[in-house]
Amino acid sequence: MSFDLSVIPNKNIVLAVTGGIAAYKSAILVRRLKDAGFNVRVVMTKGALAFITPLTFQALSGNPVHIELLDPEAEAGMGHIELARWADLLLVAPATCDILAKFAAGLADDLLSTLYLATKAPVWVVPAMNQQMWAAKATQRNLATLVEDQVHVIMPDAGSQACGDVGLGRMPEPESIAYQVTAYFHQAQRAIAEKFGLLAGKNVVITAGPTREAIDPVRYISNHSTGKMGFALAAACYAAGAKVTLIAGPVSLDTPNGVRRINVQSALQMLDCSLEMLKEGCDVFIATAAVADYRVAQVAEHKIKKSGDELDVALIKNPDIVATIAQQTKRPFMVGFAAETRNVEEYATGKLLAKKLDMIACNDVSRTDIGFASDQNAMTVFFAEQYHMDKQNLEKASKQIIAQQLVEAIHEALHIQSDNDEQF
Ligand code: C5P
Repeated sequence: MSFDLSVIPNKNIVLAVTGGIAAYKSAILVRRLKDAGFNVRVVMTKGALAFITPLTFQALSGNPVHIELLDPEAEAGMGHIELARWADLLLVAPATCDILAKFAAGLADDLLSTLYLATKAPVWVVPAMNQQMWAAKATQRNLATLVEDQVHVIMPDAGSQACGDVGLGRMPEPESIAYQVTAYFHQAQRAIAEKFGLLAGKNVVITAGPTREAIDPVRYISNHSTGKMGFALAAACYAAGAKVTLIAGPVSLDTPNGVRRINVQSALQMLDCSLEMLKEGCDVFIATAAVADYRVAQVAEHKIKKSGDELDVALIKNPDIVATIAQQTKRPFMVGFAAETRNVEEYATGKLLAKKLDMIACNDVSRTDIGFASDQNAMTVFFAEQYHMDKQNLEKASKQIIAQQLVEAIHEALHIQSDNDEQF
């Protein structure tokens, strides 16, 4: 599965384990949920204790395990009502037919059935049982009641069972359950971002990475850009609710969740693709790519053979992508980047004017602790005059944090732009 399971901060899952042979899989499920960044607290029924020890879950979750409804010690730590409030999701895996029946009937005679009634969080059940018990009319009737009560059911897998039967009733693999839980939180997060995010409703196009200019079929001219800043910005814009297209030169980075990626090689391809994206609709264009300034005038059809001590290769200037987009009649909000080794402010503001940008983010690449291949960056951001915005110094931080700050700066400038537009 290609889903990035690592970006759900600060969500709490109560994993309830009931008494079935599949309970051993729940230990791995705790690991997978923790890997995905969830806080996990485990509740065990009395039946579960016959299959696996609380110590296993305590060690894996890093939290004490909750077993009794009225255990004075547990209640002093986190009582059952507090636990019900703490949960962002109550996940019951494996769920026996007994607990399904209790939930359907609304009983509250132990910790888990009480939690079920006391929590406002969504409840997911992962039934796992003998295939005959799964097919039993009472079980199916209880399931139908739970679905009506908005409980989400992860359906059991078919296959051979511990009891020797073959059929429906196996608990799905922990990876698959963790994946579905993570995807659920991503979708919920996305729905909120699309409505309330700083870039909600905006189409953002980002160029990233180096370009590769062919000399012959095996050789090329390129540069050291890793694309990290552009990819971090793509992720930050998506998290802010935008629809994001990332036009990437050759880099070895994973595509951020939810981002459409189009791979290109040369500056000319990057320009063509950018113009194409403009036709599709683009509100914000962010040029982080380190586009090669020159390309080879005449790309050799065949591999150039070694001969003589010198080789002359004529180069011609590449088009300036960001400047070309900025000249279009229906132009998006334009953000450029500049990497300078000296006179940072002077060169950056010069580029802002020359390329007709709305905003430029500049870093000092003479510093070895930030910039190109580093995971950290520090930038100064300048805005075009009509925004009346002071320059912003973004202190040294991870490229993710810098990206988030740039999104805030873009949001602020867009706001001013729309105020200005309304006045005319
Ligand atoms: O290379 P330079 O310092 O001029 O780059 C400044 C900005 O212009 C960057 O945002 C870069 O992505 C963009 N640029 C471009 N096409 C080029 C050269 C630079 O879009 N051919």
